[in-house]
Amino acid sequence: VILLKQPESPTDSIPGPRGYPVVGILPDLWKAPLGYLVNARNVYGDVIRLNFGSNRLVLIVHPDHVKYVLQDNNRNFRKGYERVQPLLGNGLVSSEGDFWMRQRRLMQPAFHQPMIAAYSQTMTLATQEMLERWQMAAGGGEPLDMLKEMMRLTQVIIVRTMFSSDIGDRADRIGEAFQAALSHFSVFLISPSGLLDKLPTPGNLRYRQGLSTVDNEVYRLIEERRVSGEDKGDLLSRLVLARDEETGEGMSDRQIRDEVLTMFLAGHETTANALAWTWYLLAQHPDVEARLLAEIDGVLAGRMPAFEDISNLRYTRMVFDEALRLYPPAWMFARVAIEADEIGGHPIPAGTGLMISPYLTHRHPDFWVDPERFDPERFSPEQSAQRPRHAYMPFSYGPRVCIGNNFALTEAVLVLAIVLQRYRLELAPGAKVTPQPLATLKPRPGVPMHLKSRGLNSVSAAD
Ligand code: HEM
Repeated sequence: VILLKQPESPTDSIPGPRGYPVVGILPDLWKAPLGYLVNARNVYGDVIRLNFGSNRLVLIVHPDHVKYVLQDNNRNFRKGYERVQPLLGNGLVSSEGDFWMRQRRLMQPAFHQPMIAAYSQTMTLATQEMLERWQMAAGGGEPLDMLKEMMRLTQVIIVRTMFSSDIGDRADRIGEAFQAALSHFSVFLISPSGLLDKLPTPGNLRYRQGLSTVDNEVYRLIEERRVSGEDKGDLLSRLVLARDEETGEGMSDRQIRDEVLTMFLAGHETTANALAWTWYLLAQHPDVEARLLAEIDGVLAGRMPAFEDISNLRYTRMVFDEALRLYPPAWMFARVAIEADEIGGHPIPAGTGLMISPYLTHRHPDFWVDPERFDPERFSPEQSAQRPRHAYMPFSYGPRVCIGNNFALTEAVLVLAIVLQRYRLELAPGAKVTPQPLATLKPRPGVPMHLKSRGLNSVSAAD
């Protein structure tokens, strides 16, 4: 019994479930993670200690405490994402400190509004191509899995915005190789000592093969771009041509490769999940869908949306904001305290792992009335003004806020508007969809839907 006793820690004074000896709360958490965590918040409050055997993490839910970590005292908290470094190297998601800051400065211009406006044409075109594919496949009677469709679409969009459309089928090859490598990557994240990574399992081999194809292709593209010196207006050109304002230095090939892989990973699955959830929610709320259709038809009158239309598609944006509240793709992320600190009156020793969960904060009953209810009206200017800004954080905030937030919001509004001009989407009868909290919050087992043509096939390209 003495051997099984967990070592003491100053975090023991923080309220939280005790769990079992050795394994702590793992077995209970494993069974139903989201329900378990929501319940833990209801029982233990805003700062919760979670025992994982000898390891303890602290989950912080109150917007004020989250703001302390992400913004007010952010310098005392590092990300601690070493486990993703074998794949993403020193890319923007996983880098830290001065190096991260330099990279962020170099990359920010690629996400300024004129660039997003330029990428929006790629977004529109790729969505139209998807609709053409749907039309060809129509009449089969089989439902389409919206998760798969949205993944495919956002993947095409991120690859083309990174490398331009004119690399043709190389784009598809890179996309597929990326996907092959990534589908296995989550195993590495849970592998305790890196041991699983080294075994010659089929998954590991696929990962290595995928990664080596990606690396070869990406290094070739970088080389071609350096030689031509041409600015193609895509993300790769931004990375190759970026120069630090203070030092005049550019990025090494390896750094550009890390940033390209990071963008691919961070830039498509998140948006795809959020769109899939939006379709799911709309199918269950015909009143919301009707208002959305009225806005889209009213603003666009049957033509393709352009970037300038987005600010007028206000309700479309409110619907997406609310989907991101209920099902934030980045449902949980982590920080590590560098020096000892205090949060909400609780001691946080140096080295403590902190968990921040948009999923939980977005359901905090002090800030959201009837939090489980889908209600885009929460994001009307009036209601938004009555709520602390930090109660909503699908993209995080502070210095490490998602660099792709406006990219994703633009993409989502365009995709919703373009699809809804032509189709309404109905959930396949009997389909049961539940959130699965992996690296992102996925609708499981997918979102099977039937397309209902709206008979507005006169939608024409913007002139
Ligand atoms: C709905 C879609 C998206 C969601 C919900 C989302 C969410 C987030 C969140 C919560 C973070 C902070 C993570 C942390 O601090 O640990 C983050 C960071 C990041 N995201 Fe996104 N993201 C989305 C789309 C995108 C897109 C489209 C791109 C790129 C085109 C992108 C690129 C990044 C990058 C590079 C970072 C790291 C930024 C830094 O640390 O400087 N994301 N994202």
